[in-house]
Amino acid sequence: MESTRERWSSRSAFLFAVIGSAIGLGNVWRFPYITYENGGGAFLIPYLIALITAGIPLMILEYYVGHFTQSAPPIAFRKIWHRAEWAGWFAILLIFILSTYYCTIMGWCVNYLYYSFDLGWGNTAESVKAFFNNDILQLSSSPSVLGGIRLPIVFGLALVWLWIYLSLFKGVETLGKIVYFTVIIPWLIIVIMVIRGLTLPGAIEGIKFYLTPDFSVLLKPKVWLAAYGQIFFTLSLAMGTLIVYASYLHEESDITVNAFLTSIANCLTSFVAGFAVFSTLGYLAQTLGVSVKDVTTSGIGLAFVTYPMAISLLPVAARFFAALFFLLLLTLGIDSAFSMTEPVVESIVDKWGAKKKYVLPVICVLGFLVGLPFTTRAGLYWIDIADHFITNYGITVVGLLECIIIGYVLGAKKARSYINQVSEMKIGIWWDIFIKFLTPAFLGTSLVFQFVNLIKKGYGGYPIWTTYTGMGLIIFLALTAIILAKRKGAV
Ligand code: PFF
Repeated sequence: MESTRERWSSRSAFLFAVIGSAIGLGNVWRFPYITYENGGGAFLIPYLIALITAGIPLMILEYYVGHFTQSAPPIAFRKIWHRAEWAGWFAILLIFILSTYYCTIMGWCVNYLYYSFDLGWGNTAESVKAFFNNDILQLSSSPSVLGGIRLPIVFGLALVWLWIYLSLFKGVETLGKIVYFTVIIPWLIIVIMVIRGLTLPGAIEGIKFYLTPDFSVLLKPKVWLAAYGQIFFTLSLAMGTLIVYASYLHEESDITVNAFLTSIANCLTSFVAGFAVFSTLGYLAQTLGVSVKDVTTSGIGLAFVTYPMAISLLPVAARFFAALFFLLLLTLGIDSAFSMTEPVVESIVDKWGAKKKYVLPVICVLGFLVGLPFTTRAGLYWIDIADHFITNYGITVVGLLECIIIGYVLGAKKARSYINQVSEMKIGIWWDIFIKFLTPAFLGTSLVFQFVNLIKKGYGGYPIWTTYTGMGLIIFLALTAIILAKRKGAV
């Protein structure tokens, strides 16, 4: 079985695949506004600390799990500890749900790309907002009013799933070639957008706004939570992706240098993309005669409201830059999206010995169908709610489980000696300390902290039953994971 496992054709194919997974929508809309909301330039300090204390140690851990077991997460964890299979299934179910709404957001991008050609959203604050809320989403009044499916979004969603299918169906070797394009094209577009942004009047004010530190925020726990949350999301950690991708590595491949390269490439991309976004927002502020603070919206609004408006006001080639921006989001997102599907497919193939060519289309169709509720008129609310519970609770629990399984059940020292045997750069005892104490301590505290907050206030100002639904979803996925782990497989 081991010898017939699919393989990356080269080290760079693997590196581009993991970098492609890491670089996604999280870098271009999430990173800039999270930075802005959490103290601007000062946020880079907790962000870097989170990268060093949790991001890199856990990435090394996940590469190790895939490399050592040559399996997808459920079987990988079972090989390490016979009771741990469910943790793998839990990660797989979480990533499956994540993929269904991530692809819906990409479905919005497909629609925006189409409307770029005539700048359908206009160029006033009211028109861009109305375009997003009324024309694209037809947003309903609350999460309980689903109000029917939005066909243009369903169409975009179907295209994205077809794109995922076409990228994956030929196997890992072809995937290793596709990722060169899906990484290099967005990098080129980011460079063009940075140059365009920095040469606009008002750009400097935007950049100042992005980078001027407000050190007082470092005392706020919320800022630290945001930094760790962003690191997990942006590095595709605790979701099974990195384990599966590392399981296609040859047995003698390096682990540690690859982990450092992936993290640095990803975080630098975020940092540079911030210049493209904030220089353009500086221009928008100057054009409207207001301060940068007043044009900056948080969350999804940044990519679909504020930025399109800024582009509409560009002095030349506005349509071209609008199309380029949504092409950027789509090419950034697609390799993250297929990196969410591959682990699901591979886990089923691994456990039941099913044929990939049958499992893949079934998962793509299922992903499309499960995504349909997110295309309703209440979809935006449900994306927000699902994302909160999956990224804040799901990912944290999986990260914690990984630290316990490797750090304590297997033993961090044992894992480290394997890692050092195959890697070009040796890691010291610091890694054991992170995996056994620091990372789990942080993750545990964060979990308790967030849970207490949730019990007190519910989530996001929505009716309280949505909080129960979100919690219910996580519990349901955990129970399903236990059932899947108990089922007999072919191996
Ligand atoms: N890292 C991706 C982004 O920043 O958009 C999102 C992601 C991909 C999360 C794959 C998790 C994952 F497994």
